[in-house]
Amino acid sequence: MLFAKNIFVGMRPECFLLPRLTISFWRSMSTKPQKKSEAKAPHLKTFKIYRYDPQDKKKKGHMQKYTINLNDCRPMVLDALLKIKTEQDSSLSFRRSCREGICGSCGMNIDGVNRLACTHKIKLKGTTKIYPLPHMYVIKDLVVDFSKFIEQHKRIMPYLIREKAHAEGKDQCLQSIKDRDSLIGYVECILCACCSTSCPEYWWHGHTKAPNDFLGPAALLNAYRWIKDTRDEGTKLRLSKLTNYYNLYRCHQINNCTKCCPKRLAPGKAIADLRLLVANFKKKKKGDLEGNLPSDPHKACEPKEDC
Ligand code: SF4
Ligand code: SF4
Ligand code: FES
Repeated sequence: MLFAKNIFVGMRPECFLLPRLTISFWRSMSTKPQKKSEAKAPHLKTFKIYRYDPQDKKKKGHMQKYTINLNDCRPMVLDALLKIKTEQDSSLSFRRSCREGICGSCGMNIDGVNRLACTHKIKLKGTTKIYPLPHMYVIKDLVVDFSKFIEQHKRIMPYLIREKAHAEGKDQCLQSIKDRDSLIGYVECILCACCSTSCPEYWWHGHTKAPNDFLGPAALLNAYRWIKDTRDEGTKLRLSKLTNYYNLYRCHQINNCTKCCPKRLAPGKAIADLRLLVANFKKKKKGDLEGNLPSDPHKACEPKEDC
């Protein structure tokens, strides 16, 4: 046995190539070709998809049936939609980009729950019904109008507010690792709107005229994210904008939003914490580190002339 092991020591890798090729050739010869009767039976799956074309004035919104073979389809609902669009109906419209749960563009209502089509697996049995996100204005098929949602997001000022102006791109705001970690569970929001469009309060009060509208769980979670950030110095201003009867207080803590968030965030909890801050029951935590990094971090990395 020892001898058998030793004879391979020192041999070049090319020496192993020919025997390997020979073995794989004989293996391929020995496997029997599949008979026609043994070929995989098609696994047919039906989807009912909401269709609406604003240019076809005679047709109202309706459901259309499509059947595909799951044997040659990848496992996610977005894969099925792409297959239908490529092979059966190129007029079917929906948004998608990253196909891996990062861009937030493929939010839709699948079998009654708001989800991302790219991260939701196709159910192997029964018919799957797909609608656009609920209570949003439909532009075409599964594409909805996000303008109000984006406008509400803008209103929570989704950027760092600092009292002293600092040189953009030159200074670094200090934050300890622990403080940065406390933002986990908030910064991952991809603005897919699955939460807001599953919230009954957002359905009734989300689309009224600003400022008398409910901002919805997505905007409020992001408002809390910026308030919680120890580098941010705009807490007073941010909270003053939420004291309105509608903006924050329409939430009834039913937590539909938290249940359907595809990133497993908890907007319902963020709203509850925001209320405590607005009512002065809770104070913002002071950061472990304050101020800016004094030197230009980019310059600090540049090699010096004399070395
Ligand atoms: S909180 Fe969740 S469901 Fe709501 S927009 Fe962000 S990622 Fe989407
Ligand atoms: S917890 Fe509040 S924001 Fe979330 S679904 Fe319920 S009412 Fe809407
Ligand atoms: S395609 Fe980007 S999240 Fe689904």
